[in-house]
Amino acid sequence: MQTIRTVEELKNWVREEKKSGQTIGLVPTMGFLHEGHLSLVEKAKQENDKVVMSIFVNPAQFGPNEDFDRYPRDMERDQQLAASAGTDVIFAPSVAEMYPRESQISISAGAQAEVLCGAKRPGHFDGVLKVVTKLFHLTEPNRAYFGQKDAQQLAIIESLVADYNFPLEIRRGETVREADGLAKSSRNVYLSEAERREAPHLHAALQLGKQLVLGGENPLQEMSEYLKERISGKIDYIELHDYPTLSKEITDEAILALAVQFEKARLIDNVIIKLKGN
Ligand code: PAF
Repeated sequence: MQTIRTVEELKNWVREEKKSGQTIGLVPTMGFLHEGHLSLVEKAKQENDKVVMSIFVNPAQFGPNEDFDRYPRDMERDQQLAASAGTDVIFAPSVAEMYPRESQISISAGAQAEVLCGAKRPGHFDGVLKVVTKLFHLTEPNRAYFGQKDAQQLAIIESLVADYNFPLEIRRGETVREADGLAKSSRNVYLSEAERREAPHLHAALQLGKQLVLGGENPLQEMSEYLKERISGKIDYIELHDYPTLSKEITDEAILALAVQFEKARLIDNVIIKLKGN
């Protein structure tokens, strides 16, 4: 596995691979890898000749009071994990390499970003779209892989690709969980021991909510009460929307999603609920 730090080197690598007819799978990450990322690499390996993983903590998607500076980073550990999962290339540019000048053009997410995390983190998804657009152009992947834990991000990136005819396929990866149900996340390291014991209740609340939705009930109040009795963190939101449109009008599939702010970690999780053909 090689680690590439510059745009020029990456473009040269991509040109050579394309010349010899190789297909490329891209796994965009912000590093501090866990099994969720590695399961995306495995999927990408099965479906492509070469796998590129980007590791870039993208300042454009963090708000002024968010955790950009203290976002966990460990490149050496990431290199070992990525290599053992079969990654061919890590692309790990500096901020100056990725954003050498102030952008004159901005890309903004539409109505899908007006709910859930988009409503709570203004500009967050515009920053995600900015970096993935650049990564798609630089890597020219046949397929790009995103985890379902960030279901809103996934839906918005699918819209970007569909609306602007990006010549690649977006592939969804299942959320990978700890044995007790907590969704794997780089931010789990911020949890105190007590918070870590409480955190599986997020997944349990979603399972409870799913049963209520399938029974035709509105789950929000009951989920909120369930969580308030069991966790010290503050509920940021619990919402139910259509998926992937994220509109109020629920048709075939719904997303039930929540965010909880613990002392140092803001955790999100969701469940997708099939309403038709169940
Ligand atoms: O999901 C993430 O880790 C990031 O939002 C992404 C897609 C790598 C863009 O920075």
